Amino acid sequence: MAAPTTTPAPARRPGPTRIATPARERRRSPFLVELYRSSVGKKYVMAITGALLMGFVFAHMVGNLKMYLGAAEYDGYADFLRRLLVPILPRTVTLWLMRVGLIAAFALHIHAAYSLTRINHRARAVKYQSRRDYVAATYASRTMRWTGIIITLFLVWHLFDLSWTGTGYRSFYRGAVYENVDASLSRIPVAALYIVANLALGVHLFHGAWSLFQSLGWNNPRFNRWRKWFAYGFSGAVTLGNVSFPIAVLAGVVSR
Ligand code: HEM
Repeated sequence: MAAPTTTPAPARRPGPTRIATPARERRRSPFLVELYRSSVGKKYVMAITGALLMGFVFAHMVGNLKMYLGAAEYDGYADFLRRLLVPILPRTVTLWLMRVGLIAAFALHIHAAYSLTRINHRARAVKYQSRRDYVAATYASRTMRWTGIIITLFLVWHLFDLSWTGTGYRSFYRGAVYENVDASLSRIPVAALYIVANLALGVHLFHGAWSLFQSLGWNNPRFNRWRKWFAYGFSGAVTLGNVSFPIAVLAGVVSR
């Protein structure tokens, strides 16, 4: 049998040399967009928007404490918020500007959290040197994800319930916040929902307040004790205040 013949490959003719375009040469987006594309940038966005949202929940809780001073004080405070910077700006304009800022912060916070989770999943194999680090990191991120989902669902309910329409109780009056809070939270299942959601918020705030400084790069071990106390103090104060409201309504301390 004749041995198979192999056809020699034709000699390559020298052609024009192709130069690969370096990734750096693609059109650059504005600096902030480029920064947000990196995981460091996303961590900064998480931390800054998280700090803004923490400021909001703290101020909201302190404002709600006014319900303990009675209907006139509490409703007056709600009206004060609508009249901020009047007559420089028309009524409710400042409140709307704050709402837009809050919505933007909330949307960016969720987007950065989602993207960072995806990046972490991809890097998981190499990121954690020890099983202990790995377990701690997944526990924290899972807790943040689930408490975050609970808070978002609660917020949708809460806005319909007390800010926009009133849900399932007949006497919703815009601006009559004392009466609305009393009408809504006197229902035991709703009060229970507020308590559970605010406990979830407390856990989320604790982890958030703890990792805030780390994300900003301020993680000198000398300050760890302060960071821990700040996280306990902040999340504890917001949770105690918020959980007290449904309990006070059910106990008749807040009542029309
Ligand atoms: C038991 C706890 C809470 C009570 C009693 C409460 C009460 C209220 C009331 C009465 C309003 C309507 C204010 C008005 O019409 O002027 C309101 C609005 C709002 N609440 Fe809460 N709240 C609680 C917890 C929370 C939490 C935990 C969050 C965030 C996670 C939150 C976010 C908001 C937002 C975004 C608004 C709309 C503000 C606006 O656009 O005017 N609340 N809340």
